[in-house]
Amino acid sequence: MTRPCFVANWKMHKTIEETRTYFIALQKKLSELPSQAWDLIIAPPYTAIFSASEQIKALSLPVQLAAQNFHFEAEGAYTGEISSKMLCEAGCQYVIIGHSERRTYFGETNQTVGRKRIAAQQSGLIPIVCVGESAKEREEGKTLSVIKRQIEEAFAETTLGVGLSLVAYEPLWAIGSGKTPMPSDVNKIHQEIAGFFESTLETGKKEIPRILYGGSVNEKNVAAFMKEPHIDGVLAGGASLSAETLVQMIASVVIH
Ligand code: PGA
Repeated sequence: MTRPCFVANWKMHKTIEETRTYFIALQKKLSELPSQAWDLIIAPPYTAIFSASEQIKALSLPVQLAAQNFHFEAEGAYTGEISSKMLCEAGCQYVIIGHSERRTYFGETNQTVGRKRIAAQQSGLIPIVCVGESAKEREEGKTLSVIKRQIEEAFAETTLGVGLSLVAYEPLWAIGSGKTPMPSDVNKIHQEIAGFFESTLETGKKEIPRILYGGSVNEKNVAAFMKEPHIDGVLAGGASLSAETLVQMIASVVIH
């Protein structure tokens, strides 16, 4: 197993005050773990990012921050939007791009995901690009073609160092549903994704992003996913809202 990567996507949860309480609990729980041989990336809502970053520094927490979205333009008349420069200044190192909730509810397309991936990398943010099929596409046997299309458009421009990105494979039907695919099936899909980077995008072995699985991951099922050779990490939503559960997830993977 490569160094496991855990991404906590809080979605539209937690105020600044709730974030403070969470990080205090997180510090206590993380200090009980024997090592720090993992990466932990937390994606709070925009309003809590800066104070989270200050707290991470003050408590010396082994945590990096991601935003859940941003706009691909550097600045301008885009009411309600946030730029990569603002995210970097607030303390983010990563940004989630193309989450299925953004695609479904806010009109995110493969093209905008591609523009965001480039803009993120140009500004020094590491993109976490989400891909995944719907239940209908899965039933119709289109899983791989849908994912390939999403990746092709997100990574059309490969000169920026694709290997610095992360890909999160998140089947839509598994998100927030309590249903999960078999870890072995996810492993095969991750292998296909890696192969796709190598063959079609001609990125070469070193340029294959780390590939995470997301969708109803919790402290009970995470170890089974992480045993698979092509699953480099997980992206958790609901289960990451409790600091205790998040650390239980890490513990179940790193303590044998
Ligand atoms: P979930 O969300 O863990 O609550 O299913 C995952 C996600 O949306 O990234």
